[in-house]
Amino acid sequence: KIKILAVIGSLRKGSLNRQLALEAKAIIGDRADFEILEYSDVPFMNEDIEFPAPEPVRRVREAVKAADGIWFFTPEYNHFFSGVLKNLIDWLSRPESRGKTHVLDGKPATISGVSLGMSGTTVAQDHLVTLISFLNMDVMNVPRVAIPYAMNYTDSQGKLALSDESYSFLKSQADSFIDFVKKHVQE
Ligand code: FNR
Repeated sequence: KIKILAVIGSLRKGSLNRQLALEAKAIIGDRADFEILEYSDVPFMNEDIEFPAPEPVRRVREAVKAADGIWFFTPEYNHFFSGVLKNLIDWLSRPESRGKTHVLDGKPATISGVSLGMSGTTVAQDHLVTLISFLNMDVMNVPRVAIPYAMNYTDSQGKLALSDESYSFLKSQADSFIDFVKKHVQE
């Protein structure tokens, strides 16, 4: 069974993007292992502490290595993805030890996101595509779910209830990503 690692660019408990990831997990069901990466303990990148890598960094690198594909769920902060996600990716982009490659190299990836504004994370997603393509991840660009105006799909407790349209869009991204990752694993 393939392993998908979900990386959520928001650390808050009630994150809409975390809820979106849980929807994706439910849609995938038993077709893949689907785990959410917890990384709030990863320190700020600082080359003074890079070698040997701090324990949380070692842990997230192992989780990425063990995954067959990475699914990013990104919030949009000022038409960009979040600083915590950039910090995580900066750590992951560095070799575990000198002379080695980094753990994102060649990994299949895709991106989804939900936000309150009209862009629905599309602008943040495009920036994230630039970054992860630079790191030589293999990005599945179509389809990529982006949900704008999330207040229209959120109750007073902040619980996200997807529209039928968003749900089927998310399902088609999940189905496509499973195929995309499987092809990779077979190669
Ligand atoms: C936002 N938000 C936001 N929304 C959007 O659609 N476009 C944007 O550029 C921004 N910019 C922005 C900056 C900062 C610093 C914050 C904290 C928020 C609102 C954002 O969509 C909303 O807070 C989401 O709920 C964040 O995602 P999570 O945490 O729910 O996953």
